Amino acid sequence: TSSTASPLPQPPTSPKSSSTLRPTLPTLPSSNSPSTTSASTPPPAAISCSHKHRLHLRVRGGGHDYEGLSYVASRPFFILDLINLSSVKVDVAARTAWIQAGATIGELYYQIGTQTTTLAFPAGVCPTVGVGGHFSGGGYGLSLRKFGLAADHIVDAHLVDVKGKVHNRASMGEDLFWAIRGGGGNTFGVVTAWKVNLLPVPENVTVFTVTKTIQQNATGIINRWQQVADRFPDDLFIRVILDRTETTTNSTATGRASFNSLYLGQAQSLLPLLQRDFPELGVEREDLIELTWIRSILYFAGYPTDSPLEVLRSRVPLTRKRNFKAKSDYVTEPMSERALEGIWRRILRPDIEDPELIFSPYGGRMSEIPESSIPFPHRAGTRYKIQHLVYWEREGREATDRHVDWIRELYGYLAPHVSKNPRLAYVNYRDLDVGSNNGAGFTSNEEARVWGVKYFKGNYERLVRVKTAVDPRNFFRNEQSVPPLTAWK
Ligand code: FDA
Repeated sequence: TSSTASPLPQPPTSPKSSSTLRPTLPTLPSSNSPSTTSASTPPPAAISCSHKHRLHLRVRGGGHDYEGLSYVASRPFFILDLINLSSVKVDVAARTAWIQAGATIGELYYQIGTQTTTLAFPAGVCPTVGVGGHFSGGGYGLSLRKFGLAADHIVDAHLVDVKGKVHNRASMGEDLFWAIRGGGGNTFGVVTAWKVNLLPVPENVTVFTVTKTIQQNATGIINRWQQVADRFPDDLFIRVILDRTETTTNSTATGRASFNSLYLGQAQSLLPLLQRDFPELGVEREDLIELTWIRSILYFAGYPTDSPLEVLRSRVPLTRKRNFKAKSDYVTEPMSERALEGIWRRILRPDIEDPELIFSPYGGRMSEIPESSIPFPHRAGTRYKIQHLVYWEREGREATDRHVDWIRELYGYLAPHVSKNPRLAYVNYRDLDVGSNNGAGFTSNEEARVWGVKYFKGNYERLVRVKTAVDPRNFFRNEQSVPPLTAWK
């Protein structure tokens, strides 16, 4: 069966300096067999127009890039908006799906969840994220310890190269196919569709969220979580969200840790596991909710779990639009309770509107996949990932500076407690603070390596070789695209 998403609201509005082109690009193959698209396909208009008029091109999938790189540039440019390429075709019998690159992960979840209760796909939490950028940078969700990343399960793709030729996996070759599964968007070409394998899940999974304030020993429990979270059975993922709340007794601000979990099994087997390996959390049977995998997607996305599945197709985020800045870190050794207390002190600063840190455990399947399997390198040896976030609504320079300074100071504070030489980061949590190409998107390879190895470790060199082979003049570029060896200006 196949379906096309109904017309939906647009991703974020574009700056006036740009124009937006809705492409007519090759459509999905009619069957699950590889496409027959080939070099004889006429060059898609967007690529040839861009060459002819020397107009810079930015590709937009779901428009969720943290630094807005899919729709902001410092030079005149146009947006190749893939929003109308949003069909998803699920083949339950073959356990595969073809997903056009303008679709959201919510559309993919919807198509899976309306056709089967025993297949799933391990992508992100927020349904409005686009598969175009998400899969290009790795893409993870709450089943990462069981299955790894979204990009680990891509088995074919359609890509338009710099000459406008359309490729599938066989015609693009294994080096380029390797690079597009995690090497970052808008670097090697325009992906128009992905083919993925779907993964088996039980009819019912279990979710819970248990919160502890500082007064309820949040710090000690996080400390214990650091020792065990990456060692649990692969079916269990418990992340911790640190933020601020008010005490019930006297309404003063305090730190809160929310232990937010997906277990790919039933409550009756989860409860003894938690009581044995993580009794400090004090989880009880009434905390555990059993539901189908697709309803767990609603739960983590913040929807009531009895919502119609159609809500997953919406491109309008559930949360209100706010300013925000994010960063990421990888942790290889547990940090001390004293270090955690320093995080709380920063979270409790009253002049910071809405600070948040998310600790996501690795281990399990993530430790088994070799570092060089795809460009995403953060595998064995990683205990957990930190996402640092700060949101604010107050407009104006002063408020912006205050919040951005806050997150930069926090990042500086955490330096001794996280990965070093290089200090690693997740490319899908785009952060131009870790380094960038110049405004025109060009830079020397030496400069690019500064941020390149933070995102890709040893895989960076191979990405440069692939880029040099497929796009030596650096046509596809942005502030953090991997540059070719020689074409810098
Ligand atoms: P967008 O369209 O902005 O593209 C991102 C980059 O990829 C840009 O450089 C763009 O040019 C390029 N690109 C997009 N489509 C392309 C295509 N077809 N071909 C070539 N290049 C293309 N991540 C995660 O791993 N797990 C999670 O749970 C979440 N959750 C989350 C929630 C929210 C609210 C946000 C804003 C972001 C996340 N993310 C995330 C991060 C997310 O994975 C990351 O921002 C992705 O790059 C977004 O992909 P989009 O297609 O939406 O972005």
